[in-house]
Amino acid sequence: MEKHDYLPLFETTPVKGRLLFRLYAASVFLGICFICAFRVSHFPTEGKVERWGWIGLFVAELWFSFYGFLTIVVRWNPVSRRTFKGRLSHRYEKNLPGVDIFICTADPTAEPPSLVINTALSLMAYDYPPEKLNIYLSDDGGSELTFYAMLEASRFCKIWLPFCRKFKVEPRSPAAYFGSAVEPLDDPLNYKEWLSVRESFEDMMMRIHTTTKLGKISEDIRKQHKGFREWDVVSSRRDHQTILQILIDGRDPGAVDIQGEHLPTLVYLAREKKPQYHHNFKAGAMNALIRVSSKISNCPFIMNVDYDMYSNNSECVRDAMCFFMDEEKGHEIAYIQHPQHFHNLKKNDIYASSLLVEHEVELPGMDGNGGPCYIGSGCFHRRDALCGKKYSKELKLNWEEVNDKTKIEESAIVLEETCKVLASCTYEQNKQWGKEMGLKYGFPVEDIITGLSIQCKGWRSVYTNPERKGFAGLGPTTLLQSLIQQKRWSEGHLQIVLSKYCPLLHGHKKIPLKLQLSYCPFNMWAANGLPTLYIVVVPALCLLRGISLFPKISSPWVTPFVYVAFAHRAYSLGEFLWFGGTLKGWCNLQRIWVFKRTTSYLFGFFDTILKLLGLSEQAFALTAKVADEDVSERYEQEVMEFGASSPMFSIIATLALLNLLCLMGSTLKTVIIKDTNMAEVFDQFGLQILSCCLLVIINLPVYQALFFRRDNGRLPPSTTYQSMVTALLACAIAVC
Ligand SMILES: *[C@@H]1O[C@H](CO)[C@@H](O)[C@H](O)[C@H]1NC(C)=O
Repeated sequence: MEKHDYLPLFETTPVKGRLLFRLYAASVFLGICFICAFRVSHFPTEGKVERWGWIGLFVAELWFSFYGFLTIVVRWNPVSRRTFKGRLSHRYEKNLPGVDIFICTADPTAEPPSLVINTALSLMAYDYPPEKLNIYLSDDGGSELTFYAMLEASRFCKIWLPFCRKFKVEPRSPAAYFGSAVEPLDDPLNYKEWLSVRESFEDMMMRIHTTTKLGKISEDIRKQHKGFREWDVVSSRRDHQTILQILIDGRDPGAVDIQGEHLPTLVYLAREKKPQYHHNFKAGAMNALIRVSSKISNCPFIMNVDYDMYSNNSECVRDAMCFFMDEEKGHEIAYIQHPQHFHNLKKNDIYASSLLVEHEVELPGMDGNGGPCYIGSGCFHRRDALCGKKYSKELKLNWEEVNDKTKIEESAIVLEETCKVLASCTYEQNKQWGKEMGLKYGFPVEDIITGLSIQCKGWRSVYTNPERKGFAGLGPTTLLQSLIQQKRWSEGHLQIVLSKYCPLLHGHKKIPLKLQLSYCPFNMWAANGLPTLYIVVVPALCLLRGISLFPKISSPWVTPFVYVAFAHRAYSLGEFLWFGGTLKGWCNLQRIWVFKRTTSYLFGFFDTILKLLGLSEQAFALTAKVADEDVSERYEQEVMEFGASSPMFSIIATLALLNLLCLMGSTLKTVIIKDTNMAEVFDQFGLQILSCCLLVIINLPVYQALFFRRDNGRLPPSTTYQSMVTALLACAIAVC
């Protein structure tokens, strides 16, 4: 058959509503031009404070306009993708290529083994020929508890995989499935089987919980697998030899489930750690896995997830193959990125963790502009591209040969011994790993740079967001976790801009300009910190002092300000609701918008500058995702969690109080002290009063946490006093 006779395996369609969006963008642009004209033509002629206040605000507005321009570039050409799995199966069922699946975990306490194996089981149960799946776990915690849990999973999968096929289970993480599934009472024949599998699962979880609680492996269990002997010589999680155990060898004819079907390969790896060698965090773990897997299964495709991201859609691998195996465009595609959905979010998402807009608008927009970035998890890679090869037509794979070519002959025992060296501390010395090969080192968001470099080598990438979400992970459940995560991201992104990997430099002439620009809004998150701080603080203080920064309500100049502010927020609300958010969820998003910009981004900004000047060291802050009961209860009820003292909370509280004080102060001033006309004051300061009011409304939960709550999640009294004093001081300075 000739090539052009084929129907494509996937289809790309422009997202509807582009024209409406472009009209909106043009009108906002016009509004901004008027605002600039006003700022220039009405520049205050007297008063030093007036002038500087004005200039500062103008600079902030210019920054936001520029940033807004970048977000419009991202949204200009969104596309959506659809796959045809029937055609794939029809053409290639016999020749489907293998996939190596990587799971990364780093700490058995913060990342419980029971969660890790549910992720592993969900991935093993993909609707894909099992002998072509290879699951690798990288355990940077080097924990025998995690190893033990994996051993349990290697047994349980023998009943879990047939069960998934029989009952068409979805999602295929047993914990997620049994957590929400209803007993099949109307099916008496299979009811018993269903119950017995659930019981086996619960028994297994019980054993794992007991062992995890105990903190060590009992003698009985120790005898069950030779792998435990490795821990006899482990001195600590930061100092141990490579531990590599092939728990299931998929090539072994004896590796079958209870129905006699093949099992996927399952491998446990804890790479070598020595205190004197830098381990490069997750990037280091991924690179070790890339090398080890190349000797054990060497599949042409690699998928990676974090420990908590189970598969929510058993057809994802087939979906990915529709992209990679498409006869016309498939060979150009280096990676296929899924969004990161979280299954523990509540309806109104108080910490705005869902990243709804990023997933539904910005990533499809990047895809339309040339390809999404790589976001570190839930991504299918082409091994060649990830290993640093440049795109070329010669790399096109022949599906009939791929599986024969990648056959490995050595036995599991031999492989375990020979591959250890690939995960040793010294293996990467004088090699290109972390530079030109694999994931890049030296940045907190190494995934973004890795993706960008792949694109710059001529490869395409694809964003896919299927109806049934591909993966489900855990989002942060306290405010501080969320802010710290944002700080790390924003800092990492800013470091990219200031490095040789800045998309505008690194991507110059290699990727389209619109794609270079699409990276920038993410990269420049941290730069929003100062301008946001300015517009939260200065207009309020000026209101108190009696300096007007905006046009009078009665002046025609007020129109562009009102229009831009209103249209911008209305558009954002519309976008949010359209993609399934709630009104309350949107309000929460606005609140978090202010919080994270005035804390995470600000800290991220200053930390990056300090590092640049060589004044501070890089540290990688893990976000613990298991909370104690008290905290989770408040999370269930969507009550904002403070409950700790942190400079971030001090800032949030101070800004909230400052706006409240300024609003109250200026009201008092007009009502009592100066016997002025209210209407006149409102005319003069209308927009400033409005912005103050909005900020006060946004901060209502902060006042509650400062003054009214009695539970452990409120703001600590020390923070309350501290922020009170700071806010009062600022107001006093403004008035004098
Ligand atoms: C998993 O898929 C189901 C079915 O589409 C969906 O309802 C659910 O929200 C998904 N889970 C997550 C966390 O996205």
